[in-house]
Amino acid sequence: MVLSTGTNKIKTAVFISGTGSNLKSLIKFSKLKKSPISINLIITNNKLAKGLKYGAIFKIKNKIINFKNKEIAEKKIFNELKKNKIELICLAGFMKILSKNFIKNFKGKILNIHPSLLPKYKGLNTHKKAIENKDKYSGCTVHFVNAKLDSGKIILQKRVNIYKKDTPDSLAERILAQEHKLFPKAILKIFSL
Ligand code: GAR
Repeated sequence: MVLSTGTNKIKTAVFISGTGSNLKSLIKFSKLKKSPISINLIITNNKLAKGLKYGAIFKIKNKIINFKNKEIAEKKIFNELKKNKIELICLAGFMKILSKNFIKNFKGKILNIHPSLLPKYKGLNTHKKAIENKDKYSGCTVHFVNAKLDSGKIILQKRVNIYKKDTPDSLAERILAQEHKLFPKAILKIFSL
């Protein structure tokens, strides 16, 4: 794919559930000339998500979606994505699992960042699992989303050492710092092929 420039960037929606530090790094990246994406929409299942504040600073449209009924929630999201002509979805700390049907509709257009070296430690509590297993290193992965949890094609990974004194929180912090670099790099990689 060719890198698009200026006004011609790939319209992207970022899905978040909490802090949104990956959203923040993606927004920063999207403002660079070399970025093939623009961020046009933020979707969250959590009205208290801190990340909404970053979006607001840059006047990015957001939509808070109640996930009590997943089918209805996904219909609403689908409509928002269409309305905003979204071409790419980045899951950045989005803690809901999207249905097979939803994913099928955006096949090859959904990316996720996960805090482990997949295929190791899919799902939750990845840092705790890596420390308990006495792993020497863990890391983070950016991958395409398919119908199986944390199992789509891997785009990029970054390894991070685990030290004896590490707790899940200290490890999470070091991995998160790498996530902020890895997501933009992965986007550059897929759109410069
Ligand atoms: C990140 O570590 C991300 O990899 C993880 O949640 C954190 C969100 O941080 N995602 C998952 O665990 C998805 N299963 P952020 O809100 O500061 O970007």
